[in-house]
Formats: sequence, C-alpha cells, structure tokens
Amino acid sequence: MTEQTSKTIGIDDAVRLVTAMVNNGELDQAMSLSEQLCTAAPDHPDVLYVSAGLSWRVDKSDQAIAMQKRLVALEPGTATHHERLLYFLRETGDISGALAAAEAGVRECPSSPTLINALGMLQLNTGNLQGSRQTFENAILAFPKSPTAHQNLSLVLLAEGLAEDAVNAFSKGLTPLKPVDFETKYQDHQHIGEIYNGLAQGYDANELQRAWGPQTAQVMRAALGPGKHGDVLDLCCGTGSVGAAISEQTDHITGVDVSSGMLDKARARDIYDKLICADICQALRSIDRSFSVVTCSSALYHWADLTTFFDAVASVLLPNGYLIFSVDPASDEMDIGQSAPSEYAHSRSYIRRVTASAGFREISITIDAHRSYPGFWCV
Ligand SMILES: C[S@@+](CC[C@H](N)C(=O)[O-])C[C@H]1O[C@@H](n2cnc3c(N)ncnc32)[C@H](O)[C@@H]1O
Repeated sequence: MTEQTSKTIGIDDAVRLVTAMVNNGELDQAMSLSEQLCTAAPDHPDVLYVSAGLSWRVDKSDQAIAMQKRLVALEPGTATHHERLLYFLRETGDISGALAAAEAGVRECPSSPTLINALGMLQLNTGNLQGSRQTFENAILAFPKSPTAHQNLSLVLLAEGLAEDAVNAFSKGLTPLKPVDFETKYQDHQHIGEIYNGLAQGYDANELQRAWGPQTAQVMRAALGPGKHGDVLDLCCGTGSVGAAISEQTDHITGVDVSSGMLDKARARDIYDKLICADICQALRSIDRSFSVVTCSSALYHWADLTTFFDAVASVLLPNGYLIFSVDPASDEMDIGQSAPSEYAHSRSYIRRVTASAGFREISITIDAHRSYPGFWCV
C-alpha cells in the first residue's frame, strides 16, 4: 500500500479489498496489497487475520503460522484464532506444536468445546490415553449435552481395550429415535449418491476409509474360515475396498452402489464381475440371483430403520448364506439413535430383533473400530 493508497482507502477498506481479491481468485494482487498492509500495520488483528489466511492459501505455511501466532498473542481470548493456528500446525504435520497450541488455547479459552476436543484428540493420537480421557471427561462435565466429547471418549476407551464402555460412551452422545420417527428418517438416496459422487475422487486417499475392506475380510475369515465362499453380493460397495479385500475368496462378486462416481472407482479396480448403480433396496428387489454371502460395510448408518433392508437381503441369500455388515453402535437402552444429521446408530438388541424376524441367526457381533468411532461388526 502506498502512502497515498493508505490515506485514500484506510486499513479497514484495504483489508476488505484483499478479502474481495482473494474471493475473486486474484491472489497475486491480494498478496501484494497484503504485504503493503503488513508493513503499514503489522499488529492490526484484521491485517494479520486476512494475511495469514492468504499466506496459507498460497502455500506459504511458515508465514501463515507466524502471523497466526502473532494474532493469538494479540487476542489470546479469541478461540477461533487458536483453532486456526491448530489447524495450520496439524496440517503441516507439526503435532507437538499443535499439542502445545491446543493446551494454550484451552488455558486461554476454557469454554471452547472445539479447543477442548481438539486437545483430547491430539493427546489420543500421541498416545497419551490418560490425558486424553481426562480431557474428554472434563469436556463432558463442562458441556454435557454436546455429543462430540462423548463420542471422542469412546475412542479413548476403545484404545484402552474397554469395548463395552466405549459403546456406552458413544451412545451417550446419541439422540434416541422414537419408533414413530423411523419412517420419516428414511434418506433421499438420490441425494446421497450425489454427495458420494463428490467424494469419490479423493475417497481412497483416506487411510481410515481404506481400512474397512480389510476389516470386513477379517470378520468374514473369522466367521466363515479361509477358502472360497461362492457368489458374493457387496452392498454399498463404494470404491470397492471390500471387493479388493475379499475377491480371492469369492467365485463371483457383484457390487451395488447408488453413486456412479464411487462405482467408476470400483470398476477401475477390475475386481467385480458385475456392478449395479442403484439404491440397494431397489437393486435387491430386481436381482435375479442368489448369493452365499452378502456384505455391507460402513454404510448402514445412512438408515434409521433397517427392517426393510434385512428383509430384502434375506430374499437374495441362499439357505445357510451369510450376511456380514457393520453399524455405528448404540447401547441397548435404545433401538436407534441419531449421531449426526442423517446418521444413525443401532443397538444390538434392535439388530438381534429385526434380523431374527427376517430369518437370520446370529453368529457374532464384535466391537471394533468402525468409521470414526467404535462400531458393531456383525455376522
Ligand atoms: C462410507 S461408504 C462405504 C463404502 C464401502 N462399503 C467401504 O466399506 O469402503 C458408503 C457407501 O454407501 C453408498 N450408499 C449410501 N446409500 C446407498 C443406497 N441407498 N443404495 C446404495 N448405495 C448407497 C454410498 O454411495 C457410499 O459409496
């Protein structure tokens, strides 16, 4: 900013101008104006805020972090400043820096649930289970109605080997659904397909998501043993993580998914003998083949009531066939709980009741890592 410009438009207007340039993608101009602003007003919080964001955007992460640290020092009581610093540090892989920043953030802003939960997760991820547990227990005391701390505590308990306690902790963050709600909680599957089309490209880059196929394979081997298991139907197959993990144990494998983008990725693996793009309940009604194994990994959290699903699967299974699936966990105090908008968890008593009425016999229900939290892996 030239002296004349600063006089002409002032700091606030110049900050707004940088923001507008960034929003228009005019990053070089924005950077040049931001540098002038930083020279003219190096300790102005708005200047630091917009310049740190811009530096991050143009991959000058060291500069962004330095500015964000300065902003935190200037306004230590602003939780969002700490949160952004944490984000920058985590993204650049500076975990010890992030941990220190989270501790400082919680000290300065003890009423920020985001900072407390971030601290607990960093403690968990750096192996400090005791510290993490204490942090989440404190968060629950401070924000008893927030589901996040309960759900995060479930991760610590699972890591400590306390599987049942982990389920109970996760369940405390759920909102139980009354039976009358079940029908109204059905998903718009077309909409889900579009969401996953948007996620498909980067889906397999996520380590957690890549793990679900091998986990399904492990559950299958534990229950069914090694060797071939005939014709398999992989429902909600996504990018084919399950197919990739179990294909050597199948004679023929069909995948079904409502997202064409996810199916393109599955097709590229060249594992599935057949892929069907459809809502699973529609696909199950039109499939003219019977299967010895049906799998459905990490997808049933999209449904509240699973009665229709189990009935439909039973109709395509051969006698003595197996259904292997996973769900987010609820304690037996409820049938179905809502964990997030349009996401549902199911209790074992509910699963047992509805599968039995669809003609299934339980072989195993184990508690293990599921999506982001613990879950029930069922055969
Ligand atoms: C979280 S991904 C899991 C993918 C895969 N089973 C795995 O374990 O990696 C959930 C998948 O369910 C699919 N899905 C959700 N609702 C569906 C529906 N009604 N019919 C068919 N597929 C559905 C989504 O498109 C997505 O690919």
